[in-house]
Amino acid sequence: MPNTIFQDCEETQICNGSILIEGMRFPAHLYAPKTIHSALAYNARADDIFIVTMPRSGTTWMQTIVYALLNNGQGFDENLDDFIARNPFLEMHGSNVVEAMPRPGAIKTHLVFEHIPYHPNAKYICVVRNPKDVCVSFFRFIISLSPEAAKNLSFDCLFEQFLAGQTGHADYFDYLFSCWEHRDDPNVLFVLYEDMKANIRSSIIRVAQFLNIDLNKKLLERTVLVTQFDYLKQNRFNERIIDSEPSTTIEFVRKGIVGDWRTVLSDEQSRRLDAHFYEKTRDIPGLNTLWHGYNVFNSCT
Ligand code: PPS
Repeated sequence: MPNTIFQDCEETQICNGSILIEGMRFPAHLYAPKTIHSALAYNARADDIFIVTMPRSGTTWMQTIVYALLNNGQGFDENLDDFIARNPFLEMHGSNVVEAMPRPGAIKTHLVFEHIPYHPNAKYICVVRNPKDVCVSFFRFIISLSPEAAKNLSFDCLFEQFLAGQTGHADYFDYLFSCWEHRDDPNVLFVLYEDMKANIRSSIIRVAQFLNIDLNKKLLERTVLVTQFDYLKQNRFNERIIDSEPSTTIEFVRKGIVGDWRTVLSDEQSRRLDAHFYEKTRDIPGLNTLWHGYNVFNSCT
């Protein structure tokens, strides 16, 4: 199946600045259709580890954790080139880069689960985050990309797109449902960003067990240290990881809290997202209560 996808290349649709492929939308100024098609056609390998997320859900944090665990507690900054090489971004860098990556490493992807190249022995770490914080973080991220974006996009506009499932790269609920469906697969680890914030040690232990990494106390504490928010900020993760114009800072690491949505969402927007969430998850036991305990939704169930 893989290579036949290339035949569709010329038919790729571009709409309102987004490349539309397989129901996903990729900002055209950041992605190339050919590279996305190559990503979809990548032949997954048994030793692949994928970090699967909707953008702004904790990808970077998980990347630094997996990297530290695989490299005896090494921080991203100790060998930046090595960190970058071992963490390719599937649909941005394409299959050639992933095929040539040094291993062990982890492949970042924002593809929806059913479109991610699959191998029964590959491992898939899905990180999900509550939609209110994702929406706000997404907005902050987009306006940090360029002064034009900052000038032209209001939060109210982004919020409506988010509710309509029209932000990049897919509807929030496509990610949530597709990861949720696979949460009990033996080669899938389902992780909540909020659980990582609440107890990073137990989250790291879960990741290490999933990857069959022998975790001693020293490696655990070192991993906590070199992946925590302050460490990434103080060691200028954003500035060092991006090869961009000097005036642009992409905020992979920004505020890193649960509940930042309270500073941005109006009461009405918050209520609408509560209702939308319950409507979408109403018939999915377990999913509709996933963030109970984190004070995200007004319980209207
Ligand atoms: S991206 O652009 O899609 O790769 O973004 P992603 O890495 O998925 O998510 C970015 C948000 O994760 C926060 N972050 C962290 N939180 C806690 N601890 C650590 N170490 C950490 N690293 C990144 C980052 O600040 C973004 O969230 P917001 O709410 O915008 O601060």
